[in-house]
Amino acid sequence: MLLRWHVLSSCLFIIWFYPGNTTCPSDCNCRIDDRGKRRVTCNKGGMIDPIPTYNMDPAMEVLDISAPDNDWNIFTVGSIFQDFKRLEEIHITRSNIIQIGMHAFWGVPSVRLLNMTYNNLTVVFDHNFRGLVNLVQLNLDDNAINRLPSGAFKHLSELRILTVQRNYISDLVPRLFLKLSKLQVLKMSGNPLQELDPEVFKDIPVSHL
Ligand SMILES: *[C@@H]1O[C@H](CO)[C@@H](O)[C@H](O)[C@H]1NC(C)=O
Ligand SMILES: *[C@@H]1O[C@H](CO)[C@@H](O)[C@H](O)[C@H]1NC(C)=O
Repeated sequence: MLLRWHVLSSCLFIIWFYPGNTTCPSDCNCRIDDRGKRRVTCNKGGMIDPIPTYNMDPAMEVLDISAPDNDWNIFTVGSIFQDFKRLEEIHITRSNIIQIGMHAFWGVPSVRLLNMTYNNLTVVFDHNFRGLVNLVQLNLDDNAINRLPSGAFKHLSELRILTVQRNYISDLVPRLFLKLSKLQVLKMSGNPLQELDPEVFKDIPVSHL
């Protein structure tokens, strides 16, 4: 009886201290950053799908994926963030992303910053951003976006900063900025924009082009 209890308690001990929440994907670096945030950084480059979220700490707060200029990653972005309930910032840059999956960020309302600079997006849809109810900043610079549909950002009612610089957008459709009533900074330089219809901007309070 006593022996059994010992066996059982050492099993419990092992389970309790199993370092399931301190794993880190190989090729990434996991640490507490200068701001005290749990940060996972993967910036060696040359990584291919899937993004190794299965090895990441569920308490991760910042995910920063990038690559050197000559060795971009090849990633797709689908619904892979649901288990990360404290995630505040997602940077996935230099990763050849050509589209964002439908409802990719559903279930992670904690995200405040989404940075997808330096990818290969050609279009974004409203369903890409569904569920990002607390997003404050969205960076889509240096992609190949040629079309932003009407209401593309309508699920981002807390958005303050939107940057879509250096893409291929030639016109802004009516109601593009629908529901962006808190937007403070809009950066769209480096696009082949023709003439701007003031009507397009009636949904946002201030604009800095
Ligand atoms: C977004 O990612 C790019 C490329 O890694 C970086 O240069 C930029 O500072 C990031 N933006 C923000 C707001 O962190
Ligand atoms: C993505 O864009 C980069 C830089 O413009 C380019 O070198 C690369 O071939 C593109 N990748 C895809 C998958 O289109």
